[in-house]
Amino acid sequence: CGIVGYIGTQAASEILIAGLEKLEYRGYDSAGLATIWEGNIHSVRAKGKLYNLREKLAQVEMPSSIGIGHTRWATHGKPEERNAHPHMDHKGRVAVVQNGIVENYRELREELKAKGYEFKSDTDTEVIPHLIADILENKTSEKITFLEAVIKAVNRLEGAFAIAVLCADYPNELIVARQQAPLSIGLGQGEFFCASDTPALVPYTQAVLSLENGEIARLTHLGVEIYTFAGERLHKVPRILNWSPTLVEKHVFKHFMLKEIHEQPGVVRDCLQAYLDAECELESEKISEKSAEKSSEKKTPSPIHLSIPSSWYQDLEQIEILACGTSWHASLVGKYLLEQLAGIPTIVQYASEARYAPTPLRPNTITIGVTQSGETADTLASLAMEQHRRVNARPEYAAKLLGITNRPESSLAQLVPHIIDTRAGIEIGVAATKTFMAQLIAFYLLALDIAWHRQTLPQSRLLEILKDLRQIPAQMEQLLQDQEKHIEELAHDFNETHDFIFLGRGINFPIALEGALKLKEISYIHAEGYPAGEMKHGPIALLDEKVPVVAIAMPGSVYEKVISNAQEAKARDARLIGVMPKEEPEAKETFNDVLGVPCVDEILSPILTVIPLQLLAYHIAARRGLDVDQPRNLAKSVTVE
Ligand code: G6P
Repeated sequence: CGIVGYIGTQAASEILIAGLEKLEYRGYDSAGLATIWEGNIHSVRAKGKLYNLREKLAQVEMPSSIGIGHTRWATHGKPEERNAHPHMDHKGRVAVVQNGIVENYRELREELKAKGYEFKSDTDTEVIPHLIADILENKTSEKITFLEAVIKAVNRLEGAFAIAVLCADYPNELIVARQQAPLSIGLGQGEFFCASDTPALVPYTQAVLSLENGEIARLTHLGVEIYTFAGERLHKVPRILNWSPTLVEKHVFKHFMLKEIHEQPGVVRDCLQAYLDAECELESEKISEKSAEKSSEKKTPSPIHLSIPSSWYQDLEQIEILACGTSWHASLVGKYLLEQLAGIPTIVQYASEARYAPTPLRPNTITIGVTQSGETADTLASLAMEQHRRVNARPEYAAKLLGITNRPESSLAQLVPHIIDTRAGIEIGVAATKTFMAQLIAFYLLALDIAWHRQTLPQSRLLEILKDLRQIPAQMEQLLQDQEKHIEELAHDFNETHDFIFLGRGINFPIALEGALKLKEISYIHAEGYPAGEMKHGPIALLDEKVPVVAIAMPGSVYEKVISNAQEAKARDARLIGVMPKEEPEAKETFNDVLGVPCVDEILSPILTVIPLQLLAYHIAARRGLDVDQPRNLAKSVTVE
């Protein structure tokens, strides 16, 4: 869900709706906003996407310069208008928007019902306005302020939440609070904003204060005061963002997803430039000239600069990676690289699973959280649990937490001591593309850096990979140019298709998973990603002429095996699509269609093979006229566990 708030001199409803537009990627089941004027709260809510709310708002007047808004991703209660936020107390004096889950809402609801409060929705959020109203109404002798009432209320809430609250009796105050769900405050001139994420703030201000867990803020026309949940005043200094609102515009592209697919070469370039020694190109020329075995040479400083303490690499026995969704797929490629290049046993866990079945503790472990939003609740919670598990153990068990993200200002960065900022910037399309790419690059750099420090690869090989990596952005550009039209046309053939199978082996197995996920997410076509060698143990039963099979067949250690597996599918009448270099003889002999990929070192191939799969998913969905950037039921940032 996304929340916004405004207090200033302009028309609040317009600022709120513009802010919600920027946050719609966080959920789009329903939306609503509330403002105060003439001593009363006025709220408008609508089921479905934001334009429904916009239409309703066009029919009402909202002459107010204070308000809160919400765009919802349903957790408790169906996406209906009565469950849309803001929620109010029974007298309509307190309005609340929330992102998160109030875990003890049942108990609070029973308590409030017993006091006579009536509930109108199925949501967990509705307890909050009732609770605040109850505290304000039942004030005893001492005068309790709006802020004090909200402080008392948040202390009764359990779970992870961020809230924004209005009270009709305090028409010049907006109160916001954060507990494990993101919330930032924007500081303008005589106007103040709050939002779940910074894109909603940047059109108005670059001065931003991110609340931390257990903090509450009071926004008035005069400024912002921050307190702890214990009511102690804090003094925080805002930071200045250095990105412009145009980053979150579509420009010439029809969808954000297409724009972000095309941004990938630039993302890889930026990431390599940020972390790779410029000298290493020269160095690798020298090395390849000599082509001598370098492993015995004196160790030189690593050409990769990740600002991870090198002491973490000494005695390193294991890497544990926690992630969800597409980030989990990037992590599987990471596992391959960390094991095959750096020789470090690596486990990759779904964060949501690791929380309830953690692997037994091993010493000398680096734990990595991978997340494009930096806010995924399961990933953050599993990292926090790992930290907690290791806190009292012997020194060799001490937590070494690392984050990989494109959002260096996110909650992840607050939680872990070191991050690799992948430099991909914010991604708007709900289906991740460029952030996945950037995570892959981060894993290449990390694996090669460890390999350098631990000398698990001959230096010449390592420099050769780095040199090839530098060529990749140009090859990506070539691929996009060569393949886009072809894939757009090919997409026409799948108008009636219901199922797809994606096959890959070795380092391209996670790419088969990612290709299937992309297609599922945005086209709603059922798709399965499988290790090519496993197809015969089950999915082969699904095959007939109606089920296309996409096989990633890049020259290298498993090429012949993948070709054999593709033949097995062909023998069952499946239409075969190869993701491979067009020049390979099998491209014509074996496959019905080929999505051409430049021939590269197998170890680098996932960076290229994923692109035609992103394009295939995109064009199939766009051709079906679907909402590519905001597919049904999904959200970009899932801040509930
Ligand atoms: C959501 C998004 C996915 C993303 C996943 C994990 O489901 O729709 O695109 O892969 O969350 O998100 P994270 O921000 O942790 O990478």
